[in-house]
Amino acid sequence: MKSSLETIAARVGTEPDLESRALSPSIQMATTYARDESGNHSAGFVYSRLDNPTRQKLELALAELEGGAKALAFSSGMAAVNAIFQSLKPGDRILLPHDIYYGVRSLATDHFGSWGLIVDTVNMADLGQVKQALKVPTQLVWIETPSNPQLSITDIQAISDEARKVGASVVVDNTWSTPLITRPFEFGAHVVMHSITKYFGGHSDVLGGALIFAEEDAWCAKVQAIQQKAGAVLDPFSCWLTMRGIRSMAVRLERQCQSALILAEFLAGHSAIEHVHYPGLLSDPGHEIASRQMNMFGGMLSIRIKGTAEQAKRLANNLHYFANATSLGGTESLIEHRASIEGPDSKTPDNLLRISVGLESVEDLMKDLKNGLKKI
Ligand SMILES: Cc1ncc(COP(=O)(O)O)c(C=O)c1O
Repeated sequence: MKSSLETIAARVGTEPDLESRALSPSIQMATTYARDESGNHSAGFVYSRLDNPTRQKLELALAELEGGAKALAFSSGMAAVNAIFQSLKPGDRILLPHDIYYGVRSLATDHFGSWGLIVDTVNMADLGQVKQALKVPTQLVWIETPSNPQLSITDIQAISDEARKVGASVVVDNTWSTPLITRPFEFGAHVVMHSITKYFGGHSDVLGGALIFAEEDAWCAKVQAIQQKAGAVLDPFSCWLTMRGIRSMAVRLERQCQSALILAEFLAGHSAIEHVHYPGLLSDPGHEIASRQMNMFGGMLSIRIKGTAEQAKRLANNLHYFANATSLGGTESLIEHRASIEGPDSKTPDNLLRISVGLESVEDLMKDLKNGLKKI
């Protein structure tokens, strides 16, 4: 029987344990595994940096959820990104979206220049610009949709088609959507990347990352070798926390997406708001592509207030239910002035606040924003 994604997610790690029949997986902390009488590691495990039973369970679940052939779990989202960049050769060119999560842009430009990677950025919402950029030999096209923090929507299929024509590989950072909302492999991606820290973990208490490969090919083997040799692997307890988080991800996300849409519509009609970035709004420039590519419109939105950076920061500080904090995807709502955390190279408008919608009552969240906006 073919299971729906919600069912797969709800059952992650709940196969009865072979010895105890426990319905929650055990956490295997051992770093080393004994050889049998013939001197072999007959259970397939040697040393925990290479592989670990708890990590293996999570990696199998991630591959199944994303519809890929092989998943690798890392100690953070950035460790996963780093492994992809390290799999490239000096002289290779990467094309990044111009409004990508600043951490990925800064890792690529500040640290992989000396590795010899050529890093260029382009507005990926503009197919013409991407075609033009791909006239220069390119090995990797990086897509992030919705983008962080301006929620720009990239047409994965269209960009993958162009990349494949010139022999470039496509990685999609699917952190903000999760496989329950967007299915990048169905639109031509080679690799899907996740910060597990966000919706998979779901409770702001686990730091992790993942790469899922469409094929178990030579590139996948190379990245796995980097994971195993360099050792930025996800620890067993974090793997267990992630599996526990995944089991409630579908209901969390459904609620977060519903509340985000209600808040986006409310804020779009508010006199103190200059602009709301949310692909669920009919007026959003990415709405048409998002409607084709996403099952829901996500639990993240950004607002630009009519006012200064100082007023935006004051709003973020004066809310009752929204914690003024970085990160996203947890049960608690968060708000943050992104230009401040991104620093002097930030491309984010000064009056922009990013919101991660949690599981609180949407009426409470709306009242909180209404009160806060009166005081800016
Ligand atoms: C879209 C996106 N990609 C990657 C990352 C990095 O993930 P991590 O913080 O788990 O290293 C983040 C973190 O905010 C993110 O939002």
